[in-house]
Amino acid sequence: MRNVVIRCFFCGSLTFGICAALLFLCFHYYHVSKWQEQTREGTSVLFLDEKLQQPISRGSWETPTPHASVQRPNEDETKEQRPLLKLNKDFNYTDLEAVHGYLKYGFNVVISKSLGKERHVPDTRNKMCRTKHYPARLPTASIIICFHNEEFNALFRTVSSVMMLTPHRILEEIILVDDMSEFDDLKGKLDYHLEIFRGKIKLIRTKKREGLIRARLIGASRASGEVLVFLDSHCEVNKVWLEPLLAAIREDHRMVVCPLIDVIDYMTLEYQPSPVVRGAFNWYLQFKWDNVFSYEVEGPEGPTRPIRSPVMAGGIFAMKRHYFNELGQYDKGMNFWGGENLELSLRIWMCGGQLFILPCSRVGHINKQHNVDQTRVIRAVIYNNLRLVHVWLDEYKEQVFLRRPSLRSIPYGNISERVELRKQLGCKSFQWYLETVFPELEASNGSR
Ligand SMILES: *[C@@H]1O[C@H](CO)[C@@H](O)[C@H](O)[C@H]1NC(C)=O
Ligand SMILES: *[C@@H]1O[C@H](CO)[C@@H](O)[C@H](O)[C@H]1NC(C)=O
Repeated sequence: MRNVVIRCFFCGSLTFGICAALLFLCFHYYHVSKWQEQTREGTSVLFLDEKLQQPISRGSWETPTPHASVQRPNEDETKEQRPLLKLNKDFNYTDLEAVHGYLKYGFNVVISKSLGKERHVPDTRNKMCRTKHYPARLPTASIIICFHNEEFNALFRTVSSVMMLTPHRILEEIILVDDMSEFDDLKGKLDYHLEIFRGKIKLIRTKKREGLIRARLIGASRASGEVLVFLDSHCEVNKVWLEPLLAAIREDHRMVVCPLIDVIDYMTLEYQPSPVVRGAFNWYLQFKWDNVFSYEVEGPEGPTRPIRSPVMAGGIFAMKRHYFNELGQYDKGMNFWGGENLELSLRIWMCGGQLFILPCSRVGHINKQHNVDQTRVIRAVIYNNLRLVHVWLDEYKEQVFLRRPSLRSIPYGNISERVELRKQLGCKSFQWYLETVFPELEASNGSR
């Protein structure tokens, strides 16, 4: 009898143990893959090692948002720590619509629907920003928003927040570029609802999938405002967001400016303020947010002072239209997306321009979690990054190849036009950029 009990107990424990182990494995796998998706958010453009099958950089059309944990650009990727259980918070797994929406769009669609087509967001600017005055005469702006399969309400809030919070005398137009979206609500329904903004909106639909870089170029070619302002399709702008950008460009036509990007949480869609940060990258060409130096936020302007930024994060910036064209727009040989933000940033700095983040201009951005087609993305990012390495990094490309030797032999297309452009513009060397704009990068030499 006792033997039977013990045997039963043993079998029971064994079964329980196996089940627990299986459950654990499932959970572990699930969270690791979630974690990998989350790490993409902050990592942007990157070179994938054979071993490094994890972070895949920005989601297809992503601008990374500054999380509370701002990392040094030269930190080892493998040490990156993110909360593993982030997805569980507030997520209703029994709600099929929520799960389905999350898989489709990468954020909480149930809440997005309940928020609807417009809402008010908290003014996250520093108090000192509210007393700033901007010139009455500012250049006009064309806002360019490209999208592909965006969630209807998130897209609409982007447009309606711009319409609500931008004085119409400086808003030339909003140009929406639909890059071959497949979802039905982005067709007739979108046209119908945009009618209320008639006169300010141009909607362009591409005939084939162009990818972010070429979609932006299509938008820019149709713009008539003096300044181009690029936004992602899941943003909400904040109070007096555009005036600081336009005022800075009015002062200096070779000034390129970014708003500070606030976080719209992908689960709760709560609008949260971000710390003042700058854009940076490492020798793996991974984008990072970096802390600003304390002397930069001291002095009379305090935390409202423009922050010099070695690179921009991606999709959200303002630049004079003529200057964008004069400087060679984007590299049309780049595919899909990825690397274009670094390429443009290097070109701006090395060819006589400047790039600043203006903390008094704030734009919220949903930090979407993506399930993108990884092979395609990886291929495009590597290809695009190699183009910029061979055009802009001079002898410092060795720093990149030293860390990723396999990239030496990967083809990157014909770059002769971009090399010619660099000559024509009389751009400075990458060494100058390192010494003058981004000395922190060179300091990471050798060790990693
Ligand atoms: C989760 O979703 C289900 C189905 O929509 C609903 O019945 C339930 O009340 C929700 N639970 C919570 C905690 O919101
Ligand atoms: C690269 O492109 C340029 C013009 O854009 C062309 O003149 C040149 O022949 C091309 N090189 C190759 C190897 O195809």
